[in-house]
Amino acid sequence: MTTENDNAKNTLATPTHTPQLQAFRNVVESRRSVRRFTDTPISDEVMADCLHLAMLAPNSSNLQPWEFYVIDSEKKRKKAIKNCMGQNAAKTSARLIAVVARTDIWQDHSKQILNEYPDKPVPKKVKDYYTKVVALDFLRGPANVISAAKWSATQIVRQVKGPIKSPYYTFDDVKNWATNNTALGAQNLMLALRAHGFDSCAMGGFDEPAMKRLLGLTDDHHVVMMIGAGERADNGIYSAQFRFDDAQFVHYV
Ligand SMILES: Cc1cc2nc3c(=O)[nH]c(=O)nc-3n(C[C@H](O)[C@H](O)[C@H](O)COP(=O)(O)O)c2cc1C
Repeated sequence: MTTENDNAKNTLATPTHTPQLQAFRNVVESRRSVRRFTDTPISDEVMADCLHLAMLAPNSSNLQPWEFYVIDSEKKRKKAIKNCMGQNAAKTSARLIAVVARTDIWQDHSKQILNEYPDKPVPKKVKDYYTKVVALDFLRGPANVISAAKWSATQIVRQVKGPIKSPYYTFDDVKNWATNNTALGAQNLMLALRAHGFDSCAMGGFDEPAMKRLLGLTDDHHVVMMIGAGERADNGIYSAQFRFDDAQFVHYV
Protein backbone atom coordinates (compact mmCIF):
# COMPACT_ATOMS: atom_id res chain seq x y z
CA MET A 1 0.00 0.00 0.00
CA THR A 2 1.34 3.41 -0.87
CA THR A 3 1.08 5.94 1.93
CA GLU A 4 1.10 9.70 1.72
CA ASN A 5 4.67 9.64 3.10
CA ASP A 6 5.82 7.31 0.30
CA ASN A 7 4.31 9.69 -2.23
CA ALA A 8 6.20 12.58 -0.67
CA LYS A 9 9.44 10.55 -0.95
CA ASN A 10 8.74 9.53 -4.55
CA THR A 11 8.31 13.11 -5.65
CA LEU A 12 11.72 14.18 -4.23
CA ALA A 13 13.81 15.78 -6.94
CA THR A 14 16.99 13.91 -7.87
CA PRO A 15 20.28 15.30 -9.23
CA THR A 16 19.22 14.12 -12.70
CA HIS A 17 16.12 16.25 -12.51
CA THR A 18 17.73 19.25 -10.89
CA PRO A 19 21.54 19.32 -11.22
CA GLN A 20 21.72 22.07 -8.59
CA LEU A 21 20.32 19.73 -5.95
CA GLN A 22 23.63 17.94 -5.41
CA ALA A 23 25.47 21.26 -5.12
CA PHE A 24 22.87 22.49 -2.62
CA ARG A 25 23.07 19.24 -0.65
CA ASN A 26 26.88 19.51 -0.52
CA VAL A 27 26.66 23.06 0.83
CA VAL A 28 24.02 22.23 3.44
CA GLU A 29 25.57 18.93 4.54
CA SER A 30 29.11 20.28 4.79
CA ARG A 31 28.10 23.37 6.82
CA ARG A 32 29.07 23.00 10.44
CA SER A 33 29.39 25.43 13.29
CA VAL A 34 33.14 26.00 13.26
CA ARG A 35 34.73 27.37 16.42
CA ARG A 36 38.32 27.74 15.25
CA PHE A 37 39.44 29.31 11.99
CA THR A 38 42.81 29.52 10.23
CA ASP A 39 44.59 32.81 9.46
CA THR A 40 43.30 32.77 5.86
CA PRO A 41 41.43 36.01 5.21
CA ILE A 42 38.04 36.33 3.51
CA SER A 43 38.53 38.80 0.65
CA ASP A 44 36.29 41.86 0.36
CA GLU A 45 34.90 40.44 -2.90
CA VAL A 46 33.90 37.13 -1.31
CA MET A 47 32.46 38.90 1.73
CA ALA A 48 30.42 41.24 -0.47
CA ASP A 49 29.12 38.33 -2.55
CA CYS A 50 28.08 36.39 0.58
CA LEU A 51 26.28 39.45 1.93
CA HIS A 52 24.57 39.97 -1.42
CA LEU A 53 23.37 36.36 -1.37
CA ALA A 54 22.25 36.81 2.25
CA MET A 55 19.99 39.66 1.21
CA LEU A 56 18.33 37.53 -1.48
CA ALA A 57 16.65 35.63 1.36
CA PRO A 58 12.87 35.64 1.30
CA ASN A 59 11.40 38.32 3.54
CA SER A 60 7.89 39.41 4.27
CA SER A 61 6.48 42.01 1.87
CA ASN A 62 10.09 42.52 0.68
CA LEU A 63 10.54 45.04 3.51
CA GLN A 64 14.12 43.87 4.17
CA PRO A 65 14.34 44.72 7.89
CA TRP A 66 17.94 43.48 8.22
CA GLU A 67 21.38 45.01 8.52
CA PHE A 68 24.83 43.39 8.57
CA TYR A 69 27.72 45.05 10.43
CA VAL A 70 31.06 43.62 9.34
CA ILE A 71 33.32 44.53 12.24
CA ASP A 72 36.67 45.17 10.58
CA SER A 73 38.16 47.99 12.66
CA GLU A 74 40.77 46.46 14.98
CA LYS A 75 39.59 48.53 17.94
CA LYS A 76 35.93 47.60 17.53
CA ARG A 77 36.78 43.98 16.76
CA LYS A 78 38.69 43.61 20.01
CA LYS A 79 35.70 44.89 21.97
CA ALA A 80 33.24 42.81 19.93
CA ILE A 81 35.22 39.65 20.72
CA LYS A 82 35.05 40.55 24.40
CA ASN A 83 31.26 41.08 24.00
CA CYS A 84 31.10 37.58 22.46
CA MET A 85 32.42 36.33 25.80
CA GLY A 86 35.82 35.77 24.17
CA GLN A 87 34.50 32.75 22.24
CA ASN A 88 37.07 31.15 19.93
CA ALA A 89 34.60 31.42 17.04
CA ALA A 90 34.84 35.20 17.40
CA LYS A 91 38.50 35.40 18.45
CA THR A 92 39.85 33.34 15.52
CA SER A 93 37.35 34.60 12.90
CA ALA A 94 38.58 36.26 9.71
CA ARG A 95 35.39 38.36 9.71
CA LEU A 96 32.98 39.02 12.55
CA ILE A 97 29.48 40.10 11.59
CA ALA A 98 26.61 41.44 13.69
CA VAL A 99 23.28 40.49 12.12
CA VAL A 100 20.76 43.14 13.10
CA ALA A 101 16.96 43.38 12.80
CA ARG A 102 15.22 46.77 12.49
CA THR A 103 11.80 47.40 14.04
CA ASP A 104 11.54 51.00 12.79
CA ILE A 105 12.22 50.59 9.09
CA TRP A 106 8.94 49.29 7.62
CA GLN A 107 7.63 52.77 6.75
CA ASP A 108 10.83 54.00 5.04
CA HIS A 109 11.21 50.74 3.18
CA SER A 110 7.57 50.80 2.02
CA LYS A 111 8.28 54.21 0.45
CA GLN A 112 11.58 52.99 -1.00
CA ILE A 113 9.87 49.96 -2.57
CA LEU A 114 7.41 52.27 -4.36
CA ASN A 115 10.30 54.51 -5.51
CA GLU A 116 12.44 51.63 -6.74
CA TYR A 117 9.68 49.30 -7.94
CA PRO A 118 10.87 47.70 -11.20
CA ASP A 119 7.56 48.17 -13.07
CA LYS A 120 6.69 51.76 -13.98
CA PRO A 121 4.14 53.10 -13.42
CA VAL A 122 3.84 51.25 -10.12
CA PRO A 123 0.63 49.14 -10.33
CA LYS A 124 -2.22 50.54 -8.22
CA LYS A 125 -2.55 47.33 -6.22
CA VAL A 126 1.15 47.54 -5.25
CA LYS A 127 0.74 51.20 -4.25
CA ASP A 128 -2.36 50.35 -2.21
CA TYR A 129 -0.58 47.42 -0.60
CA TYR A 130 2.35 49.49 0.69
CA THR A 131 0.38 52.61 1.61
CA LYS A 132 -2.67 50.92 3.16
CA VAL A 133 -2.29 47.19 3.90
CA VAL A 134 1.27 47.38 5.25
CA ALA A 135 0.52 50.59 7.16
CA LEU A 136 -2.50 48.99 8.83
CA ASP A 137 -0.47 45.89 9.64
CA PHE A 138 2.25 47.85 11.45
CA LEU A 139 0.68 51.03 12.85
CA ARG A 140 0.30 50.84 16.62
CA GLY A 141 -0.03 54.47 17.70
CA PRO A 142 1.26 55.93 20.96
CA ALA A 143 0.94 53.39 23.81
CA ASN A 144 -0.54 50.94 21.23
CA VAL A 145 -3.85 52.88 21.10
CA ILE A 146 -4.38 52.02 17.43
CA SER A 147 -3.59 48.38 18.27
CA ALA A 148 -6.58 48.21 20.61
CA ALA A 149 -8.90 49.31 17.79
CA LYS A 150 -7.13 46.95 15.36
CA TRP A 151 -7.59 44.07 17.78
CA SER A 152 -11.34 44.66 18.10
CA ALA A 153 -11.76 45.10 14.32
CA THR A 154 -9.78 41.91 13.68
CA GLN A 155 -12.02 39.88 16.03
CA ILE A 156 -15.15 41.19 14.28
CA VAL A 157 -13.82 40.46 10.77
CA ARG A 158 -12.82 36.97 11.92
CA GLN A 159 -16.33 36.29 13.21
CA VAL A 160 -18.16 37.79 10.26
CA LYS A 161 -15.97 37.15 7.22
CA GLY A 162 -13.58 34.35 8.27
CA PRO A 163 -9.78 34.10 8.41
CA ILE A 164 -7.74 37.29 8.54
CA LYS A 165 -3.99 37.68 9.03
CA SER A 166 -3.19 38.92 12.54
CA PRO A 167 -1.69 42.40 12.35
CA TYR A 168 1.12 43.50 14.66
CA TYR A 169 -0.30 44.81 17.94
CA THR A 170 2.78 45.27 20.10
CA PHE A 171 6.45 46.16 19.82
CA ASP A 172 7.24 42.50 20.52
CA ASP A 173 5.10 41.44 17.53
CA VAL A 174 7.12 43.75 15.28
CA LYS A 175 10.39 42.60 16.85
CA ASN A 176 9.38 39.01 16.21
CA TRP A 177 8.59 39.89 12.58
CA ALA A 178 11.93 41.67 12.08
CA THR A 179 13.86 38.86 13.79
CA ASN A 180 12.20 36.10 11.71
CA ASN A 181 13.12 37.82 8.49
CA THR A 182 16.64 38.68 9.58
CA ALA A 183 17.37 35.12 10.69
CA LEU A 184 16.61 33.94 7.14
CA GLY A 185 19.21 36.41 5.87
CA ALA A 186 21.69 35.07 8.45
CA GLN A 187 21.15 31.52 7.25
CA ASN A 188 21.68 32.55 3.60
CA LEU A 189 24.90 34.26 4.69
CA MET A 190 26.22 31.13 6.42
CA LEU A 191 25.35 28.93 3.42
CA ALA A 192 26.92 31.43 1.02
CA LEU A 193 30.14 31.39 3.07
CA ARG A 194 30.13 27.58 2.88
CA ALA A 195 29.55 27.67 -0.89
CA HIS A 196 32.62 29.93 -1.14
CA GLY A 197 34.65 27.32 0.81
CA PHE A 198 34.52 29.20 4.12
CA ASP A 199 32.75 28.40 7.35
CA SER A 200 30.87 30.16 10.09
CA CYS A 201 29.55 29.96 13.60
CA ALA A 202 26.33 31.67 14.64
CA MET A 203 26.63 33.05 18.15
CA GLY A 204 23.79 33.89 20.51
CA GLY A 205 26.27 33.98 23.36
CA PHE A 206 27.05 37.71 23.44
CA ASP A 207 26.21 40.80 25.48
CA GLU A 208 23.58 42.55 23.36
CA PRO A 209 23.48 45.94 25.15
CA ALA A 210 27.29 46.14 25.01
CA MET A 211 27.31 45.16 21.32
CA LYS A 212 24.68 47.79 20.53
CA ARG A 213 26.69 50.47 22.33
CA LEU A 214 29.80 49.43 20.42
CA LEU A 215 28.02 49.66 17.06
CA GLY A 216 26.10 52.83 17.94
CA LEU A 217 22.69 51.12 17.58
CA THR A 218 19.33 52.31 18.92
CA ASP A 219 16.35 50.70 20.68
CA ASP A 220 14.98 49.89 17.21
CA HIS A 221 18.02 47.78 16.33
CA HIS A 222 18.18 44.19 17.60
CA VAL A 223 21.31 42.08 17.32
CA VAL A 224 19.78 38.76 16.28
CA MET A 225 23.08 36.90 16.22
CA MET A 226 26.79 37.38 15.77
CA ILE A 227 28.49 35.36 13.03
CA GLY A 228 32.16 34.44 13.12
CA ALA A 229 33.45 33.45 9.67
CA GLY A 230 36.65 32.12 8.21
CA GLU A 231 38.45 29.06 6.89
CA ARG A 232 37.84 25.92 8.95
CA ALA A 233 40.87 24.96 11.08
CA ASP A 234 41.73 21.28 11.54
CA ASN A 235 40.54 21.48 15.15
CA GLY A 236 37.61 23.75 14.25
CA ILE A 237 34.82 21.26 14.81
CA TYR A 238 34.21 20.29 18.39
CA SER A 239 31.88 17.30 17.98
CA ALA A 240 30.07 15.14 15.43
CA GLN A 241 26.89 16.56 13.95
CA PHE A 242 23.67 14.90 14.98
CA ARG A 243 19.95 15.68 14.96
CA PHE A 244 16.92 13.96 16.45
CA ASP A 245 14.90 11.77 14.12
CA ASP A 246 13.02 13.72 11.43
CA ALA A 247 9.79 11.97 12.44
CA GLN A 248 9.93 13.74 15.79
CA PHE A 249 9.43 17.09 14.11
CA VAL A 250 7.61 16.45 10.84
CA HIS A 251 3.86 16.12 10.83
CA TYR A 252 1.95 15.24 7.66
CA VAL A 253 -1.53 16.36 8.61
C1 LIG B 1 20.99 31.39 16.96
C2 LIG B 1 22.20 30.52 17.24
C3 LIG B 1 23.01 30.82 18.31
C4 LIG B 1 24.15 30.04 18.55
N1 LIG B 1 25.01 30.43 19.54
C5 LIG B 1 26.21 29.81 19.66
C6 LIG B 1 27.19 30.31 20.53
O1 LIG B 1 27.03 31.33 21.20
N2 LIG B 1 28.36 29.64 20.61
C7 LIG B 1 28.63 28.51 19.88
O2 LIG B 1 29.72 27.96 20.00
N3 LIG B 1 27.69 28.02 19.03
C8 LIG B 1 26.51 28.65 18.88
N4 LIG B 1 25.58 28.20 17.96
C9 LIG B 1 25.88 27.01 17.15
C10 LIG B 1 25.06 25.82 17.60
O3 LIG B 1 25.56 25.32 18.82
C11 LIG B 1 25.10 24.75 16.50
O4 LIG B 1 24.47 25.27 15.35
C12 LIG B 1 24.42 23.43 16.90
O5 LIG B 1 25.09 22.83 17.98
C13 LIG B 1 24.38 22.44 15.74
O6 LIG B 1 25.66 22.21 15.22
P1 LIG B 1 25.99 22.46 13.67
O7 LIG B 1 25.69 23.91 13.38
O8 LIG B 1 27.45 22.17 13.50
O9 LIG B 1 25.11 21.58 12.86
C14 LIG B 1 24.44 28.92 17.73
C15 LIG B 1 23.59 28.63 16.66
C16 LIG B 1 22.50 29.41 16.41
C17 LIG B 1 21.64 29.11 15.21
